[in-house]
Amino acid sequence: MEAKELLFEYLSSSVNYQIKNGDSLKVLKEFEDGKFDLIITSPPYNVGKSYETKTSIEKYLETQEEIINELVRTLSDRGNLCWQVGNYVDKGEIFPLDIYYYPIFKKLGLKLRNRIIWHFGHGLHASNRFSGRYETILWFSKTNDYIFNLDNVRVPSKYPGKLHFKGEKKGLPSGNPLGKNPSDIWDIVVNDWETAMWNIPNVKSNHPEKTEHPCQFPIELVERCVLALTNENSWVLDPFAGVGSTVIASIKNNRNAIGIEKELEYCKIANQRINDLKDGNLKMRPINKPIHEPSGKDKVSQIPLEWAQMQLDSVNEKYNKNIFPK
Ligand SMILES: C[S@@+](CC[C@H](N)C(=O)[O-])C[C@H]1O[C@@H](n2cnc3c(N)ncnc32)[C@H](O)[C@@H]1O
Repeated sequence: MEAKELLFEYLSSSVNYQIKNGDSLKVLKEFEDGKFDLIITSPPYNVGKSYETKTSIEKYLETQEEIINELVRTLSDRGNLCWQVGNYVDKGEIFPLDIYYYPIFKKLGLKLRNRIIWHFGHGLHASNRFSGRYETILWFSKTNDYIFNLDNVRVPSKYPGKLHFKGEKKGLPSGNPLGKNPSDIWDIVVNDWETAMWNIPNVKSNHPEKTEHPCQFPIELVERCVLALTNENSWVLDPFAGVGSTVIASIKNNRNAIGIEKELEYCKIANQRINDLKDGNLKMRPINKPIHEPSGKDKVSQIPLEWAQMQLDSVNEKYNKNIFPK
């Protein structure tokens, strides 16, 4: 029989992890001050998903603030906190949640280091506003002496052959041999999530990482934060763990991790995914996989025949108006 190829050859047996089933506010009380070097999460957005009861934005933020107080207490002095959110929507009006969250963190003394735009190319098409295609990650640190390992997450430079054109270093390469800073707009992940869609109509359920959770985030998104904002053996926490993407991204990179999730069913899926990771069977997109560009040969990237005549008519109309203006 052919030997099974493991996706990951080595997963350290010394990392600790746990998915805790319960309410975040209660479970957090168990942890000592300063335990975690990274707290990263995507909280409920109060939009009426299956796991939440929609309430007023004021009430929602009040509840979240109680949890955030505990999070800041358990964050280490060199620690970082990443809060990934989108919009709360009420009767067609959008409320960008990061704007509402920022003062809560600021009041507790955290310092914003980046507001990262995580852009994706798919989703519902809006008809009364432009379709939403990004969410944000607010990255805060607790102090000015925070963990930041940029070299761990550099990406290939577009022009590695660029040279200094003057001064002492004239003629020498001007870039960094390890690659460039990935910037605060994260496009790679776009495609990571999207790639599976181009050829497969039933998008989300066909992504290699997709489970039955309605809004899990891609493991690669968390991995970048874990690699840049923690050290090996750091402790990472996700207080709204869903199906365990943060825990997976952490233990895969030799970090200890705890996830808290109130829905038992999601905890079970998270544990199953972790076991799959340990067995080398968890399907996921590798970090920094090159961006997928549709070749133009795929049927889905071609203009449907039915539209071709319409487009031609529209171009002709514009042309005639310009040539023979009234
Ligand atoms: C946006 S989802 C997070 C998904 C996660 N990032 C993933 O990749 O699977 C928010 C999760 O928080 C959980 N949740 C909401 N309120 C909670 C609370 N008070 N304590 C623990 N978990 C909670 C929900 O059940 C839901 O799974």
